[in-house]
Amino acid sequence: MKLEVKLKDCCYPIYIERNALKHIKDYIDPDRKYAIVTDDNVPKQWVDLLKNQLRNASVITFEHGEKNKSLATYEEVMEQIISGHFSRKDAIIALGGGVVGDLAGFVAATYMRGIDFINIPTTLLSQVDSSVGGKVAIDMGSYKNIVGAFYQPRAVIIDPETLSTLPKRQISSGAVEALKMGLILDDKLVDLYEQQPLDLDAIIARSIDLKRMIVEQDEKELGQRAILNFGHTIGHAIESVYHHIPYYHGECVGMGMLFFINDPDLKARIRHILEQLDIPAVPLYDPKELISFIKHDKKGQSDTIKTIQVDQVGSCTIRTMTYEDIENILERGPYEK
Ligand SMILES: NC(=O)c1ccc[n+]([C@@H]2O[C@H](COP(=O)([O-])OP(=O)(O)OC[C@H]3O[C@@H](n4cnc5c(N)ncnc54)[C@H](O)[C@@H]3O)[C@@H](O)[C@H]2O)c1
Ligand SMILES: [Zn+2]
Repeated sequence: MKLEVKLKDCCYPIYIERNALKHIKDYIDPDRKYAIVTDDNVPKQWVDLLKNQLRNASVITFEHGEKNKSLATYEEVMEQIISGHFSRKDAIIALGGGVVGDLAGFVAATYMRGIDFINIPTTLLSQVDSSVGGKVAIDMGSYKNIVGAFYQPRAVIIDPETLSTLPKRQISSGAVEALKMGLILDDKLVDLYEQQPLDLDAIIARSIDLKRMIVEQDEKELGQRAILNFGHTIGHAIESVYHHIPYYHGECVGMGMLFFINDPDLKARIRHILEQLDIPAVPLYDPKELISFIKHDKKGQSDTIKTIQVDQVGSCTIRTMTYEDIENILERGPYEK
């Protein structure tokens, strides 16, 4: 299956095919010079499979984990690109999850003012969401994605077969981001979560196509693209405040969504889906602590905050709220009918 992302200045394909990685020559030129950027937790079988089909590819591996989406890793990778004498005719391939995609994409965006970038996402989160849209970045201190660019890839190649090695908890966490996409935009995508076993290929195809649509409408996140933050305001606060309980990002987004689903029947339906995915229940929290984190996160830019709310499955509304409103929502809790 091939989708096409059509933007003002560029256009690129998204391929979604089982075993695409095994037949990479069908998607990219095997004779070009490539740097394959990956992390040390991406199974070797995928790295070797890719490298062995390319005539002139070197592998640059960094230590896995969000803490390594850093300036230090950026420098390390960049040094290897420079010492490998890469030119503007060559290309960088990201092979891994969102951390690899964001970091390798930022290296590609900035090396010689931009060289070709190909993204091969291998986690469910990156296959349903982060690989499309051109947001590339690294973190600085406690600020996530604070240094980055909009830099579109030349192609995104999604091979759901790579998920065969991904731990179940990672699958569930990524599945929540696609469920989010369904809740705000597409009721049929939500329906897919009520079939067992989950049809991941169908979930990926629908979710990434919705991401494509949103990105086409709002490439630089000036308006509409903000709806993708559904579940993230409170979710991110839980993720950060409870960093001693290492919840996964998607788990926190799942918790965060419950606060902004207004129809009790829909909320019960989504709670059931989240339970099936083994997403933990929202922990006991102190509303004041979460609210102070949310204020800090928004860097005190204004007294109000835009929230994304779902009243009906497949559609959403942006509502401006005060911090006091959010605090009331937190006081009421996520399970209130
Ligand atoms: N650019 C965007 O638009 C965007 C959107 C959402 C999230 N993100 C970013 O994505 C990142 C999170 O991405 P993630 O959830 O993919 O995490 P991740 O990249 O850290 O991957 C999770 C773990 O899975 C391992 N892994 C990757 N593929 C595997 C496979 N096939 N089998 C087994 N293990 C595998 C990785 O090595 C890593 O240890 C965050 O940094 C976030 O900011 C970016
Ligand atoms: Zn997210």
